[in-house]
Amino acid sequence: MRKIISGLVIGALAVTAVACSSNDGGGNSLPKTGVAIYKFDDTFMSSVRSAITSAAEGKIAVDIVDSQNSQPTQNDKVDLFVSKKMKAMAINPVDRTAAGVIIDKAKKAKIPVVFLNREPLADDLAKWDKAYFVGAKAEESGSMEGQILVDYWNANPDMDKNGDGILQYVMLKGEPGHQDAELRTKHSVLAIEEAGIKVEKLAEDTAMWDRVKGQEKMAAFIAANGDKIEAVIANNDDMALGAIEALKAAGYFKDDKFMPVVGVDATDPAMQALKDGTLLGTVLNDAENQGKATVELMKVLAAGETPTKDNTGYEITEGKYVWIPYQKVTQK
Ligand code: GAL
Ligand code: CA
Repeated sequence: MRKIISGLVIGALAVTAVACSSNDGGGNSLPKTGVAIYKFDDTFMSSVRSAITSAAEGKIAVDIVDSQNSQPTQNDKVDLFVSKKMKAMAINPVDRTAAGVIIDKAKKAKIPVVFLNREPLADDLAKWDKAYFVGAKAEESGSMEGQILVDYWNANPDMDKNGDGILQYVMLKGEPGHQDAELRTKHSVLAIEEAGIKVEKLAEDTAMWDRVKGQEKMAAFIAANGDKIEAVIANNDDMALGAIEALKAAGYFKDDKFMPVVGVDATDPAMQALKDGTLLGTVLNDAENQGKATVELMKVLAAGETPTKDNTGYEITEGKYVWIPYQKVTQK
């Protein structure tokens, strides 16, 4: 048994060595692919980026570039991928409504394109049969956030601080127009209402997925609403963690002063906050599988084949979509 294991380890090391030289071990070079991320400075997308890098080892050579949160910059990167004759590309759009322009470029150059994380409009994706999307159902993550609050409300009558039977909440939104921001906002609240709990929105603002902005907006919410706030719903963990900072500064999370805060992503710092007892719950946005599915699709497409469940390991819905499920994450 030990021999088998050490054999496996050596095999794994050999694969790693192969990846660095971007060939398949037989001296054949791997198909070249390009990946453009909307901006490198985004916590969740950084995890997706490393998942892509490790999944690509020994399969495809990936050139991952930063679009620096600028659509014109990203379009230039796409032009670069075209001039480098990439065999496939993966794009995390800065502006999801710009996907149509990118599909036009890809189609003209006959380079299959996989979009990820930011969902193109269905009409755009329909423009070419070699355009795909890997992501997660935004409404699912919203409902799960809402359910975490419902469970807490039902188990802790004290959560209704003013005893009016209504859940007073504040909402920290991601980037407006982003499907995850719009749908998480809507479905988190809907899940609470569907559980028979009345809600009252005290405040809502965008903090653009950002921790520092989340802290600033939450500080403003506290200044305006004080103890009226009974829950904080954030479209992602970074904003939830920013809100927790603001709450700490206002005296929360000590001497029994608690505030239920929920987020999405299950990033490492969020998991730590969960352990510390500051974050009530989050929803796993599966970076690992989103990265892996993106690579599997690019690999198959780069070989000139059509992605199927058999050759990618992922269900392809409507011939275009790979949906990676979300998962609720709570303290217990
Ligand atoms: C969301 C994620 C956010 C942010 C955003 C970027 O899915 O929850 O944290 O990374 O994507 O598009
Ligand atoms: Ca109340």
